[in-house]
Amino acid sequence: MQYSETVMEHFKSPKNIGRIENPDGIGEVGNPVCGDMMTITIKVKDDRIEDIKFETFGCGAAIAVSSMVTEMAKGKTLEEAMKITNKSVAESLGGLPKNKLHCSNLGADALHKAIMDYYNRKEGKPKEPKQFEKVEYIEKKEAGCHCPYCDAELSEPAPFCKRCGKPIPQEK
Ligand code: FES
Repeated sequence: MQYSETVMEHFKSPKNIGRIENPDGIGEVGNPVCGDMMTITIKVKDDRIEDIKFETFGCGAAIAVSSMVTEMAKGKTLEEAMKITNKSVAESLGGLPKNKLHCSNLGADALHKAIMDYYNRKEGKPKEPKQFEKVEYIEKKEAGCHCPYCDAELSEPAPFCKRCGKPIPQEK
């Protein structure tokens, strides 16, 4: 399956890139499959997402997913935005190739985390939500035993992953 036209449009001209200053909520997630990262920041007014931006360290599909999820959430009430799912984001993009479906896992998760962070802040809970995914990724990377792209186990330090063939970033 090729990328849909919608994926290509959002990849070439992504909407809502960046980070909101003094956001009302931050959602940061890491993709356990490939280690890519996405951060979504939101501004909330009258229980509605007034503004939303993303920063994504990831592949083209992940960027298209980020752009689409921010477009879908903008202007929605928090309750409506919580109903956006990773599946509905992928569907709005006209689908993703099978081997890129995992790339759609970040979008709605980051959005929901940002909304939860907003609620936590309102209740006076700590501003920075726990970053489980990020910790897991860093631990794996530091252990140096998994490919950051396909997560294959690396039995020894190697310049390339034997499974996906991508170059492995070397520790300095
Ligand atoms: Fe990591 Fe697509 S999100 S390869």
